[in-house]
Amino acid sequence: MDSKIDKADAKVQKIRERKRRKSSEDRKVGSEIFDKITLETLYKLANQDYLDVLNGAVSTGKEANVLKGITKNNNYVAVKIYRIATSDFKKMDYYVHGDPRFNIKTKNKRQLIYAWVNKEFKNLKRLHNAGVNVPEPIVNSNNVLIIEFIGDTKGNPAPPVKNQPPKDSEEFFNKLLVQLKKFVHDGKLVHGDLSNYNILNQNEEPLIIDVSQSVVLDNPISHELLQRDIKTLVNEYKKLGVKTSYEEVYKYVDFKL
Ligand SMILES: Nc1ncnc2c1ncn2[C@@H]1O[C@H](COP(=O)(O)OP(=O)(O)O)[C@@H](O)[C@H]1O
Ligand SMILES: [Mg+2]
Repeated sequence: MDSKIDKADAKVQKIRERKRRKSSEDRKVGSEIFDKITLETLYKLANQDYLDVLNGAVSTGKEANVLKGITKNNNYVAVKIYRIATSDFKKMDYYVHGDPRFNIKTKNKRQLIYAWVNKEFKNLKRLHNAGVNVPEPIVNSNNVLIIEFIGDTKGNPAPPVKNQPPKDSEEFFNKLLVQLKKFVHDGKLVHGDLSNYNILNQNEEPLIIDVSQSVVLDNPISHELLQRDIKTLVNEYKKLGVKTSYEEVYKYVDFKL
């Protein structure tokens, strides 16, 4: 458990309990990891019943923290919070500007992050609707994304494959390839950062996460990203003992514009 996050959780709860006052005291409420806008966004989502309690960290990444949330109906949700201060804007700019769905004129950092979060939401929606095994998106607001929590009923998150390799690598890899093909053919997206860090092992079923950088097939970089994704997967699964090759997987996925 990250004590900083616990402290921030307590602060979010404190704000919720308080009547909303535009006092200078309220404006001062901040924390080491959540800035004022993040706290206000969480507060708003709590008021809209998307969230009741934040219950600790699942992951502290380079650009985002993933926390476990609990709703009023006692369901778990995953709350992904992008940090405004430390995000990689060059990368975001590169992926967002190549996407015809997002006509981003702004160079403003905050706006770019919001567009990035919105892109992750839309990508998840599209993939989920296409039947790809991804978390169902629930809502996004500013730099906060709330999605289906992937884990057991006790609230333990499903581990990334990197931390918990499959029992039967061959079988798992075959299931993963079915998901990958569906991702491209039905979701009409290329992941762009596919690896065992971004694949959860949910009771030996592969579940793909982290699709903020995923691009539409029309994007000029889509083919190159797919080739890179396949290379990464083939390397990783070869190490896990699967007999496969780049050519075989590339042919199976059958990329066409
Ligand atoms: N929906 C989810 N349910 C459970 N755990 C999740 C979920 N989404 C992300 N995680 C956990 O948080 C980690 C980071 O999430 P990810 O979306 O990959 O963000 P990052 O950009 O930090 O890599 C994942 O490796 C996984 O352990
Ligand atoms: Mg990730």
